[in-house]
Amino acid sequence: MDSLTTLMKRKHVASYNLDVQVPKETIEKLLHKTWKATSSKNNFMPYSVHVLGPDKKEEKILVWNKCVAKQQYSEDQAAKEGKIKQAQTIVNPYYNHIKENSYLLIFTARVCDKPTRYVQHSIENGHYAQEMFEDQVNEIITTTSIEVGMFASHLALFCMEHDIDVSYTVCMPTLIKNWRNPPFVKHRPIMLMSLGYGEKYRSQNLQAQGWKPEDDFKPEINKVVNWV
Ligand SMILES: Cc1cc2nc3c(=O)[nH]c(=O)nc-3n(C[C@H](O)[C@H](O)[C@H](O)COP(=O)(O)O)c2cc1C
Repeated sequence: MDSLTTLMKRKHVASYNLDVQVPKETIEKLLHKTWKATSSKNNFMPYSVHVLGPDKKEEKILVWNKCVAKQQYSEDQAAKEGKIKQAQTIVNPYYNHIKENSYLLIFTARVCDKPTRYVQHSIENGHYAQEMFEDQVNEIITTTSIEVGMFASHLALFCMEHDIDVSYTVCMPTLIKNWRNPPFVKHRPIMLMSLGYGEKYRSQNLQAQGWKPEDDFKPEINKVVNWV
C-alpha cells in the first residue's frame, strides 16, 4: 500500500471497540520505531510520552474530566466576551476517545538533564541549552510542540500500517497547577493521543446526522499553500 493510502486511513474515532485491545508488545514496537524515526533539535527530545494502558481506566476518566472542564471554561469565557452567543450545553462527544481506548498517550514537556557529548561540548563553549532549564519550558513550547507533532505523526503512520486507529485532542488545561493529578504530569501538557481499534468514526456520526462530507472539510490547498 502506498503511503498516501495508508495515511488516508486515519480518521477521528467516536468510539473504540473495547472488546479487542491492542497487545502491549505491538504498542511497544510501534513506539520504538517512532522514537527511532523522529528527529529532535540538538537530540534533546524535550517531551515525555506517558502511556496509559487498558487498566488505567480511572486516570483516563480524570484526564477526560479536565478536557470537559476546559471546554466549559473556554466557552463560558468566550460567551462573556461576546465571541459566541452562549456556551454549548453538551459535552463534546469527540472527547470520548480520551477515556475509552486501548492506550492513551499524554504528551508533556520535559526538562532534559543529559545533553549529548557534542552538545555538552557546545555548552562549555557558550551554547544555551534551554531544554535543560525548567523556567524555559514555555519559552521553547513551540519547538517542543512541533516535535511532539512529528512524533505523533510518525506513530500514526505506523499505527495505520497495523490497522490501529488514533485520535487527538489538544483542548485541555495547559497550566500545570491544574494537573496535580495524575501525578506523573510534571510539566506542561501538550497533546493527548488515543490508540485502539475503532468501532465508530466522527465522520460516520456526522453522515448519520445528515451532514455531507463537504459540510465538514478542511480548507482547499491554495488557502494553505502559498506559492510565492
Ligand atoms: C492535532 C489535533 C488536535 C485535535 N484536537 C481536538 C480537540 O481538542 N477537540 C476536538 O473535538 N477534536 C480535536 N481534534 C479532532 C479533529 O477535530 C478531527 O481530526 C477533524 O475534525 C478531522 O476529522 P478526521 O480526523 O476524521 O479527518 C484534533 C485533531 C488534530 C489533528
